[in-house]
Amino acid sequence: MKLFLALTTVLSAAGAAPAIQRTFEDNDDTPLPLVIWHGLGDNFANPGIQEVAALAEAVNPGTLTHIIKLGDSAAADRQATFLGNLTEQVAQVCAELAAHPILSTAPAIDALGFSQGGQFLRAYVQRCNNPPVRNLVTFGSQHNGIVDFRECGATDWLCKGAFALLRGNTWSSFVQSRLVPAQYYRNPAADQYEKYLENSNFLADINNERVLKNKTYKENIARLENLVLYMFEDDRLVIPKESAFFEEVNGTEITPLRARKMYSEDWIGLRELDRKGGLHFKVTPGDHMTLPDSVLNETFKEYFGPMKTSKARGFARLGADDL
Ligand SMILES: *[C@@H]1O[C@H](CO)[C@@H](O)[C@H](O)[C@H]1NC(C)=O
Ligand SMILES: *[C@@H]1O[C@H](CO)[C@@H](O)[C@H](O)[C@H]1NC(C)=O
Ligand SMILES: *[C@@H]1O[C@H](CO)[C@@H](O)[C@H](O)[C@H]1NC(C)=O
Ligand SMILES: *[C@@H]1O[C@H](CO)[C@@H](O)[C@H](O)[C@H]1NC(C)=O
Repeated sequence: MKLFLALTTVLSAAGAAPAIQRTFEDNDDTPLPLVIWHGLGDNFANPGIQEVAALAEAVNPGTLTHIIKLGDSAAADRQATFLGNLTEQVAQVCAELAAHPILSTAPAIDALGFSQGGQFLRAYVQRCNNPPVRNLVTFGSQHNGIVDFRECGATDWLCKGAFALLRGNTWSSFVQSRLVPAQYYRNPAADQYEKYLENSNFLADINNERVLKNKTYKENIARLENLVLYMFEDDRLVIPKESAFFEEVNGTEITPLRARKMYSEDWIGLRELDRKGGLHFKVTPGDHMTLPDSVLNETFKEYFGPMKTSKARGFARLGADDL
């Protein structure tokens, strides 16, 4: 059976954290809440994603985990990973988190994005960031877009239908407003790039690639404490896999982020974040979404947990005027 960007973890069973009263006071030991956005073809009820949440709670006891869902049933949530307008999906998540009774009272939250969920959480930071994100960790995300995906599972008709539509007419507003992966499709070849700039409903905007740059996007990324980018060493699903690192791959050459104009001109705040030591590139072995619990465990220990962990010193909740 082919798995298509769904999370396939090899987690050992992790115990449930005890229920605790969640109040957030300055310098207390309460872990920051963790928001998780899953990938294409996955859903909030999938045991894989539930186990990740359980592990996060086991590593940092007392963590409130919140798995983002865009539909009330597992099927509707999965469908929304293929179909929908990302402007509206991100806005829906922004509204939900801002209205959440606990998340909205936290001094900050941490965020964990798998595959496309990673660039969507980045969009949350850039566009809304209320409650503000301290550390954002993304695994195998398509931050610089995709030029192709491997094929769908043999009987995955939703996936097949979606990609038939993408290949048909990527840049029509019909496709751009409905098909999720088309909204981060990006081909840097000279004859393709103009169409992308003109028509991309998501990525060209969120990466500030157009002439008019959004200042808020840049400020919000620069305000993160850490942005941790994981690339899967043998990722065979995401093409190119280096998209996880914001690298530009044009067929013959790979240009690292730090050699790109988006960095030297700091379109989205990555250079500023890098200069304060907050931008991290990490490679993990295996194919797309191969996640041993040891990798997750280490990541959760290092970047999530209480406000006063070593990696998190100095992050202060921003005043309403700053947001
Ligand atoms: C995380 O890894 C450490 C060893 O590095 C281990 O002692 C601990 O039990 C693990 N925690 C969980 C929740 O798996
Ligand atoms: C920039 O993004 C923010 C947050 O989404 C939005 O409120 C603002 O209108 C945008 N500014 C411009 C010039 O588009
Ligand atoms: C996506 O939704 C936004 C907000 O409703 C809308 O302004 C935009 O035109 C839509 N995108 C497309 C390609 O239709
Ligand atoms: C890729 O980029 C390099 C360096 O900018 C350039 O020399 C080369 O012609 C490009 N290749 C393609 C296929 O665009």
